[in-house]
Amino acid sequence: MEDKIETVARWIRDAKRVVVFVGAGLSTESGIPDFRSPGGVWDKYDPEDFYFQNFITKESSREKYWQMATEMYDSMKEAKPNKGHLAIAELERIGKLDCLITQNIDGLHFKAGNSPEKVLELHGTAMYVTCLSCHKRYERDPVQERIKSGERAPRCDVCGGLLKPATISFGQSMPEWETAEAYRRSEACDLFIVIGSSLVVHPAAYMPVLAKRSGAKLVIINRDETSCDYMADIILNGSAGFIISSIVERLKGFMDLT
Ligand code: APR
Repeated sequence: MEDKIETVARWIRDAKRVVVFVGAGLSTESGIPDFRSPGGVWDKYDPEDFYFQNFITKESSREKYWQMATEMYDSMKEAKPNKGHLAIAELERIGKLDCLITQNIDGLHFKAGNSPEKVLELHGTAMYVTCLSCHKRYERDPVQERIKSGERAPRCDVCGGLLKPATISFGQSMPEWETAEAYRRSEACDLFIVIGSSLVVHPAAYMPVLAKRSGAKLVIINRDETSCDYMADIILNGSAGFIISSIVERLKGFMDLT
């Protein structure tokens, strides 16, 4: 592991454009469960209930969705960035982060110090709510209070439309600009680092493939096997927080940064 950490640190030092791509595995060390590990979200809830089509057509699905989303938001709201998030923010600070593509909706990259213009939230964010009809934006906490005081599937107070956290559900269209920009950055980078993702949900999971096909080196940092291991140049299996923070420490040593 040590020699791989050293090699990846050297690759980052020498790279012109480093793209970091993260999934829920980066946030488990902040107490937020991931989706497909044992005990993860899809062990507790049936993904079927969270298809966008069901949300917009069935009141019962909306109520189930809001129940899950309310529980998940409670764990996210109190969560603190862990050393993995902090290491990625450090990469930006030392000028070695071209772009951070995240599948996570927990807002922890910003709490860790990454700038909004550096982060592409492919699956949206749970930190606020929008009306699906008039697109009015609501802060999340007041809507959380409405749910906790009995509203089961809140509606917009302007147009009566359906309110939904600003996250992307299965079957819901991806954010256009963020997705196109993620493709562009993945194609243009020379080093693509995946952290804490099983790489099974598309189009997000296509980004490492695109990067590799465009000539980038591909590094995968993950506890378990991923669907792109076969094409990775280096795989580091273990704790995301420990591994990426060790790499950044080593990098700072190379760059004579304290
Ligand atoms: N350190 C390293 N890897 C970890 C850690 C950890 N502390 N904890 C979990 N992992 C790894 C797991 O081994 C797993 O392979 O992180 C990966 C998380 O995979 P998923 O749970 O599938 O999460 P993700 O890849 O982000 O899912 C993508 O699926 O349901 C949708 O919208 C949801 O954005 C999500 C998307």
